[in-house]
Amino acid sequence: MRVPLIAGNWKMNTTVSEAIELVNEMRPGLDEITNVDKVICPPFISLAPVRELIEGSSIKLGAQNIYFEERGAYTGEISPLMLADLCEFVIIGHSERRQYFSETGDIVNKKIQAALRAGLKPILCIGERLEENEAGRTEEVVTEQLRSSLAGIDYLSSLTIAYEPVWAIGTGKAATGEQSNETISLIRHNISQQYGKRIADDLRILYGGSVTAENAAEFINQPEIDGALVGGASLKAAEFLSIVKQTSEIKQ
Ligand code: 13P
Repeated sequence: MRVPLIAGNWKMNTTVSEAIELVNEMRPGLDEITNVDKVICPPFISLAPVRELIEGSSIKLGAQNIYFEERGAYTGEISPLMLADLCEFVIIGHSERRQYFSETGDIVNKKIQAALRAGLKPILCIGERLEENEAGRTEEVVTEQLRSSLAGIDYLSSLTIAYEPVWAIGTGKAATGEQSNETISLIRHNISQQYGKRIADDLRILYGGSVTAENAAEFINQPEIDGALVGGASLKAAEFLSIVKQTSEIKQ
């Protein structure tokens, strides 16, 4: 049985005081739900204050990025060692990082290896772009992304994968439950071929891309989908809570 996971990717939103306000709003409701893993991923500078606020609660903390070196002269970067002290999860390979910050499969692979070495739990994002989807290349693209991201990695037990079709991110145009279930099932099959059925059966795979309180159930109801990586809707306490609540009811 895979424990469902709902993660909120706040992206480059919220000042420190806004982050504090948002967490204070979410905490009581989220804490009541025990059969879903709830992860919030605020910007780096809010990790420490947010961590203090969720101490003793069941809410888990994640970062949105990481650098792959442990320490040294890399101005502006945040290392796995720094994060391991603060949070449990880290989003790696988000399409916005691939698109705006030129992250390649090789970089994503190094980041995953570094995160695992530091004891962090990576949430690896993969997904096809619109033109790839329209050309019927979804399977090929996600298969290649899996191959490059996981090259040389044989330990998947703390990994989560988020399938985020790029055309569905921030566009209000989500995939359908069925479409994403199909792609996620393919991702699981791929992992099964490479790592064996038991590891594939235990691996949590999320859907992400324009998930809202209104459409969340469509995804969560799918057998292969273990939760969601939520962007915009995770910045509204009531809406994020509603997504977590629906997940809790559907997956019990
Ligand atoms: P939206 O939910 O805003 O489309 O963002 C999805 C996402 O990129 C989560 O990582």
